[in-house]
Amino acid sequence: MSSPSSHQSASGAGWDERHRLGTYENLLPDRKARGFSWLNPIVLWRSRNDFIARRFGDPTDDVRRRWVAEQVARGADPDFMISLPALESFLVLGDTGEGDRSQYAVVPGLLREGAGTSLMIIASDVIYPVGSVNDYPLKFFLPYQSYPAPIYAVPGNHDWYDGLGGFMRIFCDATGQPAPRWRGRFGVLARLLWRRPTLADKASLAAGRALRSAPGQQARQPGPYWAIDTPHLRIIGIDTGIEGDIDGDQADWLRRVSAGAKPKLLITGKPLIVDNKRHPRTIGEIVTDPACNYVAVIGGDIHNYQRYPVTAGDGRTIQYIVSGGGGAFMAATHVIPKVTVVDEDDFTCYPLRGDSLAFYSRLYGRRLHMRWFFELTYEQAAAAIARRLGLTPTRQEAHGARPSLRARLVAVLLGVPGRGRAATRWFRLPVKNVYHRLFSSSSDSDRPPFFKSFLRLDVAADALRIRCFAATGWLEHERHPPVEDEVTIPLGTSREKELSDSGA
Ligand SMILES: [Fe+2]
Repeated sequence: MSSPSSHQSASGAGWDERHRLGTYENLLPDRKARGFSWLNPIVLWRSRNDFIARRFGDPTDDVRRRWVAEQVARGADPDFMISLPALESFLVLGDTGEGDRSQYAVVPGLLREGAGTSLMIIASDVIYPVGSVNDYPLKFFLPYQSYPAPIYAVPGNHDWYDGLGGFMRIFCDATGQPAPRWRGRFGVLARLLWRRPTLADKASLAAGRALRSAPGQQARQPGPYWAIDTPHLRIIGIDTGIEGDIDGDQADWLRRVSAGAKPKLLITGKPLIVDNKRHPRTIGEIVTDPACNYVAVIGGDIHNYQRYPVTAGDGRTIQYIVSGGGGAFMAATHVIPKVTVVDEDDFTCYPLRGDSLAFYSRLYGRRLHMRWFFELTYEQAAAAIARRLGLTPTRQEAHGARPSLRARLVAVLLGVPGRGRAATRWFRLPVKNVYHRLFSSSSDSDRPPFFKSFLRLDVAADALRIRCFAATGWLEHERHPPVEDEVTIPLGTSREKELSDSGA
């Protein structure tokens, strides 16, 4: 039995402070060991490869090709294919590895709803801030030690800040480390500035590995991109590097493993549709090709949940999902404009826009010591958003509510889009991208609700069911994780029937 969701009640969203704190507190490592602050200049300096890649040229594609060549030389399947004789259910979650409360708060519910699943997939940013191999013990092995099945992953930009060394070592058992190469005038400078991968602390890594050493937990990934072939579904994971696209070799491979009528699910480090924007990439063309029969795309990177059911010209619906709420600090959904990529009524997100604005209003109120000004209830937040976007609030309690002038002002300041966008842009406080991290230091003020989420997928011959479960940090929601979204995609003969009914 699941608890009521945030779509149904304020208590379902986790606003009810009378809830008891979850058991995740007992899983946390001691205070000194965990987390890091994005404000720390050393952390910012360690993350500099993003800047260097964008400024002097991104060496990722070249480094990836060499990782891949090395894997093939070591005997990996040239198509990077893992064949499973059966698969009934699995978990997907993105952007896990901050090693703080919001990551650990997801774990108890994940273990409960993930009971009996055959594998877990982490969709990007396994380890923050820079994918270091030495962070795996506390941000990967410890939190998921009790998950009894294998874990696969696709890397995100943060995993690449370490040249993918940590990721390749843990998931692919690789040992080398291809050095990046630059040509041109600034090559020497780029090489000098580039952060070298961390050297592994062998003792702590061995202690970490020991936490997931049961035979049933072992996964051997062929490379940073891979395909898992099962009787009813082929799951394909791609590596979108630092800048979000794939290299030519990987594109050729993707076309090859995507061909054929078997239904496919793409797992990507960068979503193809997010915040009502499409990201047209090579990948998008392959996904929409009817000959490839993709039924869904799940991408991490943005730390919340969004779903866009897009109907293609031939009548097929492809579910475009953002699932980056698996651990790291919540990314605002109230900055999403009224959705036009699909009908707004068909769009779903978690947290709801109103909860997201209420969350950030509290955050700003606390950190700026201006709670009297910033703090909004869901009712006021949702009413202010409804007015700016011309929508009806999702939860009953805000229906008919009139936003106060203060609520409207806070909504503008915290980035709710609306009419007169250009005029208000300059007044906005940061809630997106790197700025939100100013607030994500793992301080003890981290309290529920965290608005985290994970997906459970159930596969049968005729249907793929995807459910988004919430993790708020409260005990009740650990025991009965709320279902924030659910969609069933017809497969096989059911899908053919749907297509013929739609006249395609
Ligand atoms: Fe991320």
